[in-house]
Amino acid sequence: MSNTLTTMIFEKLPEHLFQSDKVGFCRVPGRVNLIGEHTDYNGFSVLPVTIKKEVHCAFSPRKDNEIHLFNEDPRFQHRSFLNAMDISPSPTGSWDNYIKAGVIALNKKFKVRTFPGFNLFINSTLPIATGLSSSSALVITASLVYLKILGKELGRDISRLELAELMAEGEHFVGTRGGGMDQTVILNGEEGHACKIDFFPIRTSLLPLFNDHVFIICDSTIRAQKTGACLNRYNAGPRLCSLVCALMERFLQREIDEPLQIRRLGDFWTGKLCLTYDEILDYAERAIPKEYIGLKEIASLLNMSTQEIRQLWIGEMEEPEKGFPLRARIRHVITEQRRVELSRDALLANDAYTFGKLMNESHQSCAENYEISIPELDMLTQIARKYGAIGSRLTGAGFGGCTVSLVPCEKIDYFMENIEKQYYQKYLGLSSAQGMFVVETCPSASYIN
Ligand code: GLA
Repeated sequence: MSNTLTTMIFEKLPEHLFQSDKVGFCRVPGRVNLIGEHTDYNGFSVLPVTIKKEVHCAFSPRKDNEIHLFNEDPRFQHRSFLNAMDISPSPTGSWDNYIKAGVIALNKKFKVRTFPGFNLFINSTLPIATGLSSSSALVITASLVYLKILGKELGRDISRLELAELMAEGEHFVGTRGGGMDQTVILNGEEGHACKIDFFPIRTSLLPLFNDHVFIICDSTIRAQKTGACLNRYNAGPRLCSLVCALMERFLQREIDEPLQIRRLGDFWTGKLCLTYDEILDYAERAIPKEYIGLKEIASLLNMSTQEIRQLWIGEMEEPEKGFPLRARIRHVITEQRRVELSRDALLANDAYTFGKLMNESHQSCAENYEISIPELDMLTQIARKYGAIGSRLTGAGFGGCTVSLVPCEKIDYFMENIEKQYYQKYLGLSSAQGMFVVETCPSASYIN
């Protein structure tokens, strides 16, 4: 397979830049998250899989310190920049930012002082802005390429988990405040398995998937550009959650009369406090006196000015008329964490029915408590459940992108035919289905020899 792949990439290369003896190749998969949405940056678990929709690339060293990027997809025009101590970002959403993110993080990690250049050619089967992690796949591609250019070896100079952690942090350069799920599964997933990931520190465990059920992806066709129009909506999640932490930290500190430092919601669950899920929810209700809470009230609870609250946590985020739904946000995170744990048990017990039920509950909580769904995703999941799925939910950051549905093998055709008719044709008015496929898992990102 590798040879065919390299031949395919080779055929499309701008030849003069890629002399055959020095060209390297790699493949980097996308991912689908089965359950555990917006839990990672809160220090809780996720359960994604790697998918056989991949970024393929060829790269070659250059004699100067320029980095030149080419993409087979004409939407992504040739870009170049100088590799240096300070690399400034291109305008938000520009595709070279993902490569810059990977390069900058490795320059820092390895204290690089002479900055080598390279050519990179990308050719991808991974759809973009559909919640299948095309962004992180690009960042990981950059990291694998640049490691080789630096003469560093994955596994010897840096482990896959370390690289994932570094790239998760590094990706903040593009403006999103995501967690580490995508980078970790891309670098550590395995064919035929879901990858349960826990954070701070990152740990992974592989769980075999069901053999009589499949996961099916359906693209809602609504684009959710995480570094574009959805940037602020995405970042609102981490921002409000850290505000919840501050409120709870202050409340708990008074109760237990000891200094506390809470960086994320998961810190209530692990470490010194070791609270149960119910205890965390109970404290949250006591620390946040009502369902919706205004900026002024938050400021007075924290004994700060509203400007300080903006500066420290929420930036320019608009204050909703009813106030911020902080209790609902934490309700989602904690119940979602419980669902991830139960889903892991369901996989181990080969209990697809329970897994499906948890997926449905997850979608409902994403929609009601975290407010990351949209009418198209709600409709798509409803139709999915009506036509054979035992579970269906949005996957990824939300606000558009794809759903993932758990379907018994014998119902695959029935499910797909009906989704095509009821969603793509009837609801969207399209002539045929778009971006609907049965998930095929694959090995984690690798070089191709
Ligand atoms: C994006 C981020 C992830 C995660 C998901 C939501 O994909 O990159 O880290 O937060 O959204 O679960």
